[in-house]
Amino acid sequence: MKGILLAGGSGSRLYPLTRVASKQLQPVYDKPMIYYPLTTLIEGGIREFCLISTPADLPRFQQLLGDGSEWGLTIEYREQSRPEGIAQAFRIAADFVGSDSVTLILGDNIFYGGDSFQKAFDTFGGGATVFGYHVTDPERYGVVEFDLAGRAMSIEEKPVHPKSNYAVPGLYLYDNEVIQIARDLKPGVRGELEITDVNVEYLRRGRLRVKQLSRGVAWLDAGTSTSLHEASAYVQTIERRQGIKVGCPEEAAFKRDFISLEALDALTHRLPRCEYRDYLCGVVAEAQSQQTRR
Ligand code: G1P
Repeated sequence: MKGILLAGGSGSRLYPLTRVASKQLQPVYDKPMIYYPLTTLIEGGIREFCLISTPADLPRFQQLLGDGSEWGLTIEYREQSRPEGIAQAFRIAADFVGSDSVTLILGDNIFYGGDSFQKAFDTFGGGATVFGYHVTDPERYGVVEFDLAGRAMSIEEKPVHPKSNYAVPGLYLYDNEVIQIARDLKPGVRGELEITDVNVEYLRRGRLRVKQLSRGVAWLDAGTSTSLHEASAYVQTIERRQGIKVGCPEEAAFKRDFISLEALDALTHRLPRCEYRDYLCGVVAEAQSQQTRR
């Protein structure tokens, strides 16, 4: 399965922070925002990525993430010259996806905890898989309505009168049909190619699975000044309490065996002296001591 990181948009709700750097490059506590969704997909076993952003911001992402080889990944880059909706990503990245299945994650969605995604990636067998997450403000999101058996009955984008409290987070798994579905899509009322319309089409075909995320999963979006601050505070709380990092791609790539312990050690030593490097040194030391105990 291939992975698309969508990091477009003008980030107008974060102005003036976004005057010079895109939303998905803003710090969430101790790392750039894009590290978090990237790590979520690495944890899911994705190695081949395409990052989509605006022509102005793309060089910055390239500077930050490179070609991915240091982390055992491949990362390609594509421009979204005009923001025409999330589903436009499948048109832009069609040649990257080829005949494969694909997962798309929004660059401002931060997830932590649980194994729901892991299971979804492991068991994905075609069609589409999306998630439902209980929130207090469903009208801000795509909203899914379930029947008594827990099957999805409807999905609506930002409904004025939501039929449930279950929002659809910005992480989606699709089979290759999504490329054609996105090609045939017409813009919705916002004038955008809506990801919800893709999901509605899968629902119509009887090929949509909606999994409810368990209570143990945190889903934060960091699109406004308040939610950005809250996301930083959340990450800081977890990291200080547990002594582990949320959204650390190097560690995730190592845990997934995308890079060896030697490669992790080597890249850690290339980092400037900072807390992030200290943390990775700790990860290396722990893995080395486990190896000698074996
Ligand atoms: C988008 C999607 C929406 C989804 C949300 C998740 O909303 O359109 O269905 O629930 O992302 O973050 P937007 O960011 O365009 O407001």
